Amino acid sequence: MERELALEIVRVTELAALAAARWMGRGDKNQADGAATAAMRAMFDSVSIQGTVVIGEGEMDEAPMLYIGERVGSMQGPEVDVAVDPLEGTELVAKGLNNALAVIAVANKGNLLHAPDMYMQKLAVGPQLAGKLRLDDPLEETLRKAAHHLGKDLHNLTVMVLDRERHQSIIRTLREVGVRIKFLSDGDVAGAMAPAMPESGIDLYVGSGGAPEGVLAAAALICLGGELQGRLLPASDDERQRCIEMGLSDPNKILTMQDMIGSEDVIFAATGITPGEFLGGVKYLTDQRAETHSIVMRAKTKTIRFIQTLHYLPNKPLLEAL
Ligand code: FBP
Repeated sequence: MERELALEIVRVTELAALAAARWMGRGDKNQADGAATAAMRAMFDSVSIQGTVVIGEGEMDEAPMLYIGERVGSMQGPEVDVAVDPLEGTELVAKGLNNALAVIAVANKGNLLHAPDMYMQKLAVGPQLAGKLRLDDPLEETLRKAAHHLGKDLHNLTVMVLDRERHQSIIRTLREVGVRIKFLSDGDVAGAMAPAMPESGIDLYVGSGGAPEGVLAAAALICLGGELQGRLLPASDDERQRCIEMGLSDPNKILTMQDMIGSEDVIFAATGITPGEFLGGVKYLTDQRAETHSIVMRAKTKTIRFIQTLHYLPNKPLLEAL
């Protein structure tokens, strides 16, 4: 993939974020998601790729746009796999809460795991802990190892986790061990990226969230030098069957970075919709302008770009047409 593609991709997340932000705080997550999806879909037409959506808005019969298998791009350029989440954190936008993102990962064809829509158990870390921990170890042991490798007192370790009933036993262990907890109400792509973001103050991300979000976070983490280990959590025979159809004969297998992201030729881009841990949200300004904050990264070069853009809205006819 040409390096210029990174900047083309960030234009797509920017437009999705601008569209979603119009629904910020309006209590309607479906409208917000629809607006982000339509904007992302329309903008892809100008991107020089022959893309296939491998992680998207759902199966073909469930989603009108950006469904799994849909072809996207100008159909000139490299054959690539595309993983999208036009609005990561639908509830966050609906409720006007922090941390919603528009997200895309692109890799050469065949290099992104086609994760089915189910939960995934996750352990995500930054570069200092990459390769040092195991998803299968008891959590207490993982915390002790992490503190040791980071040269920190256990009490000063900060762990991020989605605030969910299903995480009760994880939260109990974290409290017993005495680490700090930063709860997330939604948006675990940003959550899993946090330990690898410079100066985030987060040491580990643990718990279960969406499997598609897990692959998107793994794409970000390969660019950031971090690591995500995952395990699919099929909740029914039907979901187990889907894992097998995906080529995972053992659905309980620990998924490594290599299993999720098959090559270093990966681009990851995200634009903040509402303010978050490491990106500002969309600001609609006076003078028909709006400001966005994005991150765009290439795994090959490990370049991390933070892009602040002032958009002149009359130059965004696509946004008006949606
Ligand atoms: P949506 O954008 O699809 O609403 O997902 C938000 C999210 O918080 C994800 O970041 C996370 O992976 C998943 O939901 C967790 O699922 P649940 O809300 O069922 O715990």
